Amino acid sequence: MGTVAVTGSASGLGAAVSAHLEGQADAVIGVDLHRAEVIADLSDDDGRDAALAGILDIANGVLDGLVVAAGLGPHLTDRAAIVSVNFFGAVALLDGLRDALAAGTDPAAVAIASNSATVDPSVNAALVEACLAGDETHARSQASVLPGNTVYASSKLALARAVRRRAQSWGDVGVRLNAVAPGPVETPLLQASRDDPELGPLVDALPIPLGRTATAGEIADTILFLLSPAAGYVHGSVLFADGGSDALLRPDTP
Ligand code: NAI
Repeated sequence: MGTVAVTGSASGLGAAVSAHLEGQADAVIGVDLHRAEVIADLSDDDGRDAALAGILDIANGVLDGLVVAAGLGPHLTDRAAIVSVNFFGAVALLDGLRDALAAGTDPAAVAIASNSATVDPSVNAALVEACLAGDETHARSQASVLPGNTVYASSKLALARAVRRRAQSWGDVGVRLNAVAPGPVETPLLQASRDDPELGPLVDALPIPLGRTATAGEIADTILFLLSPAAGYVHGSVLFADGGSDALLRPDTP
């Protein structure tokens, strides 16, 4: 699978993806706040620029895969940071690495959205629009007065739409781009939400037809499928890997 960059590689889904890529990819370039090949803070422009420079330097300007998994959970009290990392950090890495991917072999990128984008009724349309307009200052100020789960779900809906809106421009340069929308996955992020007195009951109230949460390993398998030639005609899609919750709550969509 050539050279693959993975953000959020130090924990949870990013760590599981990195582990699954060992032996399948020639090189994995992890990006995180710590314990990574590229140490960078994706919450602001300087950190995003440092991440891009670090990845491009190690990859010699050519990437074959990219997974943007770095993210912050709804439990975080700094709501502005949620939107900065989950949306603006993810999109900056996608856009900043598109040309390097276009130079790669069978290139593909995967963003980690969430089924909260469709199953959480509190999504805030104005916040989604501010994200998609690229107005980080406005999005951060809106986020700072909204509940954590609303900011989280809105950041993930915006990210899923950003992926879909890029189908033509990425298709033009031969790079497949998709999102995966997991339901609850057993990682430190989910545990932090469970431990939160307000969010904890919401986590366990979500109906899941398969009757269980996911392991990070099984979501990593889904992400590796999207990166692989086996998904060669899958592009611009949001793949729900959520045990059936989205189907249960929105059976007639599409
Ligand atoms: P996690 O907390 O285990 O890992 C997230 C990683 O992102 C950490 O290593 C952290 O250091 C890194 N990160 C956070 N802020 C960063 C920043 N400013 N700059 C660079 N790296 C930063 O969380 P998990 O669960 O593995 O989440 C991965 C992605 O999956 C996130 O985007 C999350 O929103 C998404 N997701 C997770 C679900 C779950 O139930 N665990 C469900 C749906 C989506």
